[in-house]
Amino acid sequence: MSSPPNDFSHTTVLLNEAVEGLVTDPDGIYVDGTYGRGGHSRLILDRLGEKGRLLAIDRDPQAIAAATSGATRVSDPRFSIHHTSFGQLVPTLSGLGVTQVHGLLLDLGVSSPQIDDPERGFSFRFDGPLDMRMDTTRGESAAEFLARADERHIAEVIRDYGEERFAVQVAKALVARREGGNPVRTTRELSELVARAVKTREPGQDPATRTFQALRIFVNAELEELEQGLTAAIQLLAPGGRLVVISFHSLEDRIVKTFIARESKSEFDRRAPFAAPKPTRLKSLGRVKPGAAEVAANPRSRSAVMRIAERTDVGAQA
Ligand SMILES: C[S@@+](CC[C@H](N)C(=O)[O-])C[C@H]1O[C@@H](n2cnc3c(N)ncnc32)[C@H](O)[C@@H]1O
Repeated sequence: MSSPPNDFSHTTVLLNEAVEGLVTDPDGIYVDGTYGRGGHSRLILDRLGEKGRLLAIDRDPQAIAAATSGATRVSDPRFSIHHTSFGQLVPTLSGLGVTQVHGLLLDLGVSSPQIDDPERGFSFRFDGPLDMRMDTTRGESAAEFLARADERHIAEVIRDYGEERFAVQVAKALVARREGGNPVRTTRELSELVARAVKTREPGQDPATRTFQALRIFVNAELEELEQGLTAAIQLLAPGGRLVVISFHSLEDRIVKTFIARESKSEFDRRAPFAAPKPTRLKSLGRVKPGAAEVAANPRSRSAVMRIAERTDVGAQA
């Protein structure tokens, strides 16, 4: 196991590309749905005029604390931050009196401060309690889930969210250990158990990678949150408004890609074949990956894929 870095900072991925793609109106209202340590937010604020507004969201209380206190505090009258999840975007914005925005950014997954803090339990590289919740004020930790779920459910989570071929073997080992009166409680215990259960090694990858990813996605309902965030974008974006989503693994990117493709296709209603087709609600503006220089400077960016789409003007099409 390695020792964690002690600065807990986050290097923003696709910083310029994301903000370029997002901000089209300097006087518009923008949402950063994944504030983290505010890398994207700060550049968005730089690009906004006096009348522009940036509403930031994060489900992690530590991200909110970073934005509101100490040296990392953002004091800008155009900025506000809210402790909630982007799955709750529509009710959150409606509570703030906002019904339409000009851009929504989602930089998915976990931040480096979350991964690098052993107390958060996200990483198999450091020993700590097996927590993995982004929002530490609610919900069930990974250890609590593994202490109560049946073997089939554990195997399903590890297979579906981690695409782990040895999901059944890992689940069996977890349940056997629990039945022996010694459930896994720490990241080290889990990574050692997985290393014994996973029989083949993928080059350059720790055997625990897939199981840790699976539990994190499950504990934080990440894929459901993403679906809700994308649906919220359709409801909230003004015509010409931009949706920018940065994904870090294929399960997320598949959801984003399919959603944009579906919303970019105009469909005929089979029950009313002579009626005009249902208008499209999004137009895809393409996909961007970090260049070689960014990947060399920040290896965590290597799996990033950014997709940009624009809300079409429904009124103009009708
Ligand atoms: C990759 S980091 C974002 C980094 C940020 N763009 C920056 O440059 O500092 C992802 C952040 O999104 C937050 N997050 C993930 N899923 C979320 C959700 N469903 N709702 C709100 N925040 C979420 C995490 O807590 C984390 O702080």
